[in-house]
This record gives sequence, structure tokens and C-alpha cells, in this order.
Amino acid sequence: MMENMTIQMISDKDQKEYIARTVLEALTDWFGVTESREEYIRLSRDWSFFAAMVQEKPAGFLCLKETGPKTTELAVIGVLKDCQRRGTGRALFQAAREYAVKAGYEFMQVKTVQSGWYEEYDATNQFYQSLGFQELEVFPTYWDEKNPCQIYIMSLHQQPSLTDLIMSRHSYRGKYKADKVPRKDLKTIMEAGLAAPSGCNKQTTSLIAVDDPQLLAKIKAVIDPPVAETAPAMICVLSQKIIAYRDRCFAVQDYSAAIENILLAVQDLGYQSCWYEGHITDDDRINEKIASILNVPEEYELVCVLPIGIGETVPVPAKKKPFTERAWINGFNKQSE
Ligand SMILES: Cc1cc2nc3c(=O)[nH]c(=O)nc-3n(C[C@H](O)[C@H](O)[C@H](O)COP(=O)(O)O)c2cc1C
Repeated sequence: MMENMTIQMISDKDQKEYIARTVLEALTDWFGVTESREEYIRLSRDWSFFAAMVQEKPAGFLCLKETGPKTTELAVIGVLKDCQRRGTGRALFQAAREYAVKAGYEFMQVKTVQSGWYEEYDATNQFYQSLGFQELEVFPTYWDEKNPCQIYIMSLHQQPSLTDLIMSRHSYRGKYKADKVPRKDLKTIMEAGLAAPSGCNKQTTSLIAVDDPQLLAKIKAVIDPPVAETAPAMICVLSQKIIAYRDRCFAVQDYSAAIENILLAVQDLGYQSCWYEGHITDDDRINEKIASILNVPEEYELVCVLPIGIGETVPVPAKKKPFTERAWINGFNKQSE
């Protein structure tokens, strides 16, 4: 997904039409038939409309259309080619899903050309399945015989699975909204951190959450160059070098497990964060300055800060190496089916 991308809900009908036209006219592989493209553009004026914008230019859009009192349809989605496979469609869908849940809908459907006919539509099917849509039924002649209509359905009550949560976690380095993080949420997030495994159960990791605006400002003032300047809260991770057994100390593994738990709880509760360790533990020892502001005793090292807050934009997914370069079954570099 593009840097600085925002997802916006659009209500102005002319703006909806302009965005739909800009995107769909660039996507001739999917929307090549002028009549049906114009129909989508015209109808989109009256649909619930979500736009992905990069520097005020449209990168993609998604429309929801009510099909019944409790049912909605993902009527159209389009993402410019440069922005495809970069999380834009997923971010649009997440925003639309959140809206649909709040609006009281219980099911969402989407129609596309059945898998196995055209490469472009095979990718579309995979995309819908990866969002959690289930195949409902195929209507072979709904459009025409060369375009069998696959209908997908999704229950909006369905909670994302833990695996979905893990796969959708990304580091967030954008601006945060001013909304405070309730203490209850901060405590839940910290409890998730403390629940992590630790070598010989030595529990070498401790945490300090900071939500006092003046204290936060003091901490942010020593983070140079600045990061997370707008975050309304922060969790500082402390580590103690306690021997687990013989000469083995697992403090690094312990706090790493705790941080991952924290990041997942942050994601689960709808907040954003980023693991800032390199930045604060370099030669300029920002971590020591923060530790001193928080009166941390010498036997603890402050190893990481985790801003917490609601993101103003959506996180940019980092590119990961392909599965087959890093993971194998039954032996090093063994490719599996
Ligand atoms: C040990 C460690 C130190 C990190 N330090 C920083 C940091 O100082 N600044 C930063 O922007 N990100 C930092 N990160 C976040 C990584 O850059 C990020 O996890 C990585 O680029 C992969 O992106 P993802 O988290 O979206 O999967 C750190 C991550 C780890 C595990």
C-alpha cells in the first residue's frame, strides 16, 4: 500500500463519480465494457462510498449497496494497478466492513466471475476468499454463459481469527488521532505482554505505560529524530538480565515474546503501534534518557518504546520474502506442493 494513504468515506455525489471514473477507466481488464462501466459510475453516486486517497489523488474505491434490511453487497471495488497487491483493497474492505457492522448489517455478499475462466478474475476470487468470504452459489447464466456468476457471502458477526489478526499486524509510523487510550485497554495490552512465555519462567520483562500528557511530552522531547510525536500513550519495555540457568540469560527472548504479544493485543483492540528499539538504543542512548525521566532503577534496561493510539492513516505493510525462501517442510530448502 502507498505511503500516506488514507481511507475516506465520501458523501459528495460528484466527488464519488469523479473517483469512480478515474479508477474504473484505468482498469480496462476488469471494466472494459463501456456500458457496464458507466452504469457502475452512475450507480456509485448513491452507494456508500469508500475511497483510498494518496496525496489527495484516488488510488482505489469500494462501494456498498444495501440489498435488504440486514444485508449489504460489496457492489464494486477498484484499485489502480500501481496500488494493487499493496494492501489498498484490504484497507478499503476493512473500512467498509467496520461501517457495515456499525450500520447494523448482518451479512455482506459480493459477486464475481467464477474461478477458472479468466486470470484476472481468479485473482479477484482469491482476494475475496482471503478477506473471509465463503462461496454461496454459482449462477451460470446470471450475466451470460461466458461469465458464470459466483456469489460469496460473509457473516458480519464473524470475528477475525487469531491468524487473521497476526497476518494483518503491521508496524505503524503515521500520525495518531488525539483520542485517549482508556486505562482499561492499556492494562489489557500490558497483561497480554506479561502473559508471554519467558525462559525458565524468570519473567525478566517489566512494563511502564505512559498516558500523562506532560510526562509523554518530556519523553517525546528526548526522542531525536522524533517518532510517534502524536501518540496519546506509550508502553516502555524494561528488561532485567537475570540468569535463567548456568550462564544462560534469556532476557532478549523474553522481552521479544512480550512485545509481540503486546503488538497483537494492540491490533486486536483497534490501535496501532511500532516496535521502536533500534532508534532508542543507538549510541545516543535515548533509552537511558527516557529511563531517567521515568525513575527506572539501574538494574533495569529500557529496551523499547511502543506508541499506542488510533491511527489517522492505515499502516503500510512491509514487503516480506516469499514463503519458499524462508520456510520448508521435511528439510532445508525442500519445496513442497
Ligand atoms: C528488534 C526490533 C527493533 C526495531 N526497531 C525499530 C526502530 O527503531 N524503528 C522503526 O521504525 N522500526 C523498528 N522495528 C520495526 C521493524 O522495522 C518492522 O517490524 C519491520 O520493518 C517489519 O515490518 P512489520 O512490523 O510491518 O512486519 C524494529 C523491530 C524489531 C523486531
